[in-house]
Amino acid sequence: MALIELRKVSKRFGRLVVLNDLTLDIPEGQSLVVIGASGTGKSVLLKHIVGLLKPDSGEVWFDGKRVDNLPERELAPIREQFGFLFQMGALFDSMTVEQNVAFPLTEHTTKTRVEIQKIALQKLAMVGLPDVGRKMPAQLSGGQRKRVALARAIAMDPRVILYDEPTTGLDPIRSDVINELILKLKHEMSVTSIVVTHDMHSALKVGDRVVMLKEGKIIFDGTPDEVRNSDNPVVQRFVKGEASAEELASLDVQADDEP
Ligand SMILES: Nc1ncnc2c1ncn2[C@@H]1O[C@H](COP(=O)(O)OP(=O)(O)OP(=O)(O)O)[C@@H](O)[C@H]1O
Ligand SMILES: [Mg+2]
Repeated sequence: MALIELRKVSKRFGRLVVLNDLTLDIPEGQSLVVIGASGTGKSVLLKHIVGLLKPDSGEVWFDGKRVDNLPERELAPIREQFGFLFQMGALFDSMTVEQNVAFPLTEHTTKTRVEIQKIALQKLAMVGLPDVGRKMPAQLSGGQRKRVALARAIAMDPRVILYDEPTTGLDPIRSDVINELILKLKHEMSVTSIVVTHDMHSALKVGDRVVMLKEGKIIFDGTPDEVRNSDNPVVQRFVKGEASAEELASLDVQADDEP
């Protein structure tokens, strides 16, 4: 049985249909990559998995239990099994790095300050930043801040880590550090990972399965090798970063509209 299941999930905002009868099963231990154009609902999909958004219809299941209809109080212990690296992965600017990483533990556990500090430092070491605990977030580079956010996401030893565009805005070397960390967490903590990304190098490196969203549906589901060899023109254009004639035509219209 799958650890996470979306069953015929639909979600719209006003007249905009974002998810349309979407079904997806994610087995425990899998590294699933979700790709798709901007605005296709990748972040919305992640938020459904942790109950930050509710489907208009359909069901979300986690570990054999239906979760989309649970009240907040019952969702809390389920959310604690997830680490979420948000797209806008903001750290708390007024707290030190160590306090940021410790935050979930101070909020959700009864551990002592000494225990919490030890775990925070251990998680920072795991992401390769053993010496920055006393710094403020503003003193770090973008890549370091992402890694601190990742250390915070794993503070509670989650069963599932959701990564929303973990490498966006990073140079290729720092991106690859994040890719290696995703693989390391998968191997060392046996986590189930869901990685939303536009970065095809990252997608093909960290995923053992890739799904592509378009118009509220999954239009491709396969291994990285199947992505590379796919003859689906939409998938191929996405992999190669090429716009379709249709997409370019819409640009011409906008250009013509300029005064
Ligand atoms: N809370 C909300 N209220 C209204 N509209 C929303 C809300 N959340 C998302 N949307 C809309 O739903 C669509 C999908 O948004 P989503 O953030 O999932 O896109 P995405 O695939 O993650 O895009 P990107 O790659 O740019 O991050 C967008 O058109 C967005 O404006
Ligand atoms: Mg998004």
